[in-house]
Amino acid sequence: MVASAKLVSSPMQPFLQVVEISKMFPGVQALDAVNVDIFPGEVHCWIGENGAGKSTLVKILAGSMTPSSGQIRISDEIQDISSPHHAQQLGLSFIFQELSVVNGLSVADNILLGNELSRGPLVLPKASFVRAKELLMRIGFGSLDPNRKVGQLSTAEKQAVMVARALNIDAKVIFMDETTSTLDRDEVENLFSVIRTLKSEGRSIVFISHRLNEVEKIADRITIFKDGGIVGTYNSGELSINGMIRKMVGRDIEHTFPTKNRTFGKSVLEVKNISTAKISNVNLAFQSGKITGIAGLVGSGRTELMSALFGLDRLTAGSISMGGELQRFRNCRDAIRAGIGLVPEDRRGQGIIGLRSVEENISITWAIGKPLRSWKRDSVVLAKKFISGLSIKTPSMGKQVGQLSGGNQQKCVVARWLAVAPGILLLDEPTRGIDVGAKAEMYQIIDQLAREGMAVVIVSSDLPELLGLADEIAVMREGLFMGMLGGDSSEEEVMSLAMGEVK
Ligand SMILES: Nc1ncnc2c1ncn2[C@@H]1O[C@H](COP(=O)(O)OP(=O)(O)OP(=O)(O)O)[C@@H](O)[C@H]1O
Ligand SMILES: [Mg+2]
Repeated sequence: MVASAKLVSSPMQPFLQVVEISKMFPGVQALDAVNVDIFPGEVHCWIGENGAGKSTLVKILAGSMTPSSGQIRISDEIQDISSPHHAQQLGLSFIFQELSVVNGLSVADNILLGNELSRGPLVLPKASFVRAKELLMRIGFGSLDPNRKVGQLSTAEKQAVMVARALNIDAKVIFMDETTSTLDRDEVENLFSVIRTLKSEGRSIVFISHRLNEVEKIADRITIFKDGGIVGTYNSGELSINGMIRKMVGRDIEHTFPTKNRTFGKSVLEVKNISTAKISNVNLAFQSGKITGIAGLVGSGRTELMSALFGLDRLTAGSISMGGELQRFRNCRDAIRAGIGLVPEDRRGQGIIGLRSVEENISITWAIGKPLRSWKRDSVVLAKKFISGLSIKTPSMGKQVGQLSGGNQQKCVVARWLAVAPGILLLDEPTRGIDVGAKAEMYQIIDQLAREGMAVVIVSSDLPELLGLADEIAVMREGLFMGMLGGDSSEEEVMSLAMGEVK
């Protein structure tokens, strides 16, 4: 593919040059002679559909994967990045969605990991504390106590620890591969001000996200990946969000959200005054045909509410009933039997079965209790339907799910529950990591299922998405249900309830 790159006219030399890098996996050309330059002090966004090759290039630069061919130049010198340690020595730092922090260690120890301040064999705790504090202050996290255990921190704070670690080794380029997908709106704003600080110090940031409004806001330049190649590199002002989509997908995506003229049926599930260790006294009812959104900040109890409904967390008070019948779920198997499905937030922990095939991952729950013969035949049909319906990018349905790109793994988890079509489907951040085209397809499928009578409950940190999809929005704050808003509410109305601001 020819890069129609139009570089910013700059007298500066690129710090990092990716030259004709290719990567072959069995049956997949993940990267095909890709060229990208990273200049000092720029925020360079990489966007592209799921499976386009973004993370593969990041992993090659991180020294955790070797390219099949091509060159990497740093300050105009060819470098063979042989290991993550080597990448670090070359000034490259990486923040992935699955953060490489050590939960059992303190903030200071995590920041200085591998570069401990010591005199001889003795680590210097006081000096480490001071150094960590100084680094955190530089990125506006001065209130984070360096003595705290990292395991107790929020995702946003853990990311700050990673940024401070990058500063400690004086990283020149910091890669962020979908780090905002687990943050709420304010946390993203905070990260952006950290990014601006890093940039003002002449450091470069490679920022990967499927949230194109973020890209529009933070990018100096944008490189668009497609099918292992590069469509082009553009100055941020050159592309509108629609322009980005057109170049990523090769067509326009219209009518992103389905119209909301759904008709609601009977109540499918009711919760009365339920409490668990994490939520208190929640009252809600979910109706057939209705999409109920759950809004709230990270940590407000949204996921915990889902866990309670799905029999994962023990109720300490209150009751759940379905169709007027009281339910006592001892575990999620009971909940599934009663007709509840859950697409979990934690895809790696609870969702994908990495070593199993795409087909098995899609059909595994649907197949429960089915006779083996029809199972095998229908499971292929089912897998085909969802691979095409959600555009799951895989060389075959026999491919191990663990080898798909992040977004395509997520699509398989969602497909598993869409295939079951339970009476009530709980979706916890279902579009996390999913590209814009597939999101639109997923919205259509969710809408269709609601129209067929399913009650849908959806948690999403992407507020425009929640408002675009849901008929009503339940707002959570600090484990409490704050109230129900209409699907036509504004982002501000939802946020003020979620944050407890008095208007
Ligand atoms: N370890 C692996 N073995 C085989 N194929 C792989 C492996 N890792 C990635 N691939 C394939 O390489 C291609 C590019 O994947 P990559 O993870 O780079 O995509 P991505 O652009 O980061 O997508 P996403 O937006 O979904 O994260 C995909 O087709 C993927 O299936
Ligand atoms: Mg990726």
